[in-house]
Amino acid sequence: MKIAVMPGDGVGQEVVPAGLNVLKQVAKKFSFTFSTDHYPFGAEHYLKTGQTLPDSVLKELAAHDAILFGAVGADPRGSAKIPQGILETEILLKMRFELDQFINLRPTRLLPGVPTPLKNATPDDINMVIVRENTEGLYCGNGGFLYKDTPHEVANQIEVTTRRGVERCIRFAFEHARQTSRKKVTLVAKTNVLRFAHNLWQRAFEQIKAEFPGIQTDYHHVDACTMYMVTNPKIYDVIVTTNMFGDIITDLGAAIQGGMGMAASANLNPTRQAASMFEPVHGSAPDIAGKNIANPIATFLSVAMMLDFLGQPQAASAINQACREVVADPKNHTRDLGGTATTSQVTDAVVAQIESAAPRN
Ligand code: NAD
Ligand code: IPM
Ligand code: MN
Repeated sequence: MKIAVMPGDGVGQEVVPAGLNVLKQVAKKFSFTFSTDHYPFGAEHYLKTGQTLPDSVLKELAAHDAILFGAVGADPRGSAKIPQGILETEILLKMRFELDQFINLRPTRLLPGVPTPLKNATPDDINMVIVRENTEGLYCGNGGFLYKDTPHEVANQIEVTTRRGVERCIRFAFEHARQTSRKKVTLVAKTNVLRFAHNLWQRAFEQIKAEFPGIQTDYHHVDACTMYMVTNPKIYDVIVTTNMFGDIITDLGAAIQGGMGMAASANLNPTRQAASMFEPVHGSAPDIAGKNIANPIATFLSVAMMLDFLGQPQAASAINQACREVVADPKNHTRDLGGTATTSQVTDAVVAQIESAAPRN
């Protein structure tokens, strides 16, 4: 297994090394080997060299089995020396687009013992997976300014929706539902206003659902969806949605599953023609970076998703199980979960749990 490792900025520098410790432990336990190549891209490298992510490196990355990514991004309150969004678009989005990672798979699951802001919600109520389209929509960078900095300024940002892009995403969502024994797929969009782009989504959804007769389907407008995710999250099983809406509702999903420190994701190229990328949903969290207090669980769960994708399901489930056991005990909760545990303590606890667990069949 050849893994490209890119911790990036802020807490990425803390949670990715922690994730590698967990990976080492399962590799030992399940007798597989892996090698890593480390990449320095992010804010510091940009300030030093002016480089974000060179094309030559992209080719190299593509040839790995997977990429383990942390986060990139300067403080959103502004950094004089780093143009807004340059690291995010030229590093993270460039990998998603150029490596054709057209699925962003984001499970939203409340684990037992983890505090949720939703009153009375239990792990049975919050157990969904959000399939976010990852190479189109408002993220294409299709737009521009006219008459910039004049009173007549025009700014366009065009949502790109292709039949192929939508169909492959929706089909993935149904196939994923079937493979993981989930019962329902809900399309989340805004067909009442976006009467072209989201009309295409709806027609494609209607067409593809006929190929999966055993799976129930539903449709919600995105605004209503944000409400139901808070008032009745149990109704969601698999959600399939656009790039922009998926971005927004997966942060909401993270909040109800205990916070950004709990939310994992996989940027998949299901054709396997280029590497897929695995990363926590959260960003560089400049407010808590460098203090050894970031919650590393989201990264561990992302490493588990990576191992699942790379054909090591036992190692993946050992990590998932160890995370479950560890977060069930409040003494292992980091500050975001209301506790005082450090990043290193949680990491040690997960490693020890993997070590001591009996191998499961
Ligand atoms: P963020 O996810 O970095 O932080 C949001 C909140 O969640 C903060 O309060 C933070 O302290 C908390 N948080 C995040 N990760 C945590 C963890 N592991 N443990 C405990 N608490 C955690 O989002 P933001 O503040 O909007 O963005 C910060 C920077 O990161 C921006 O530059 C943004 O563009 C970038 N960003 C990058 C990615 C990525 O690379 N995948 C994702 C989101 C944001
Ligand atoms: C995410 C992030 C990214 C996105 C940003 C950093 C480009 O918010 O992975 O959710 O919008 O997709
Ligand atoms: Mn996001």
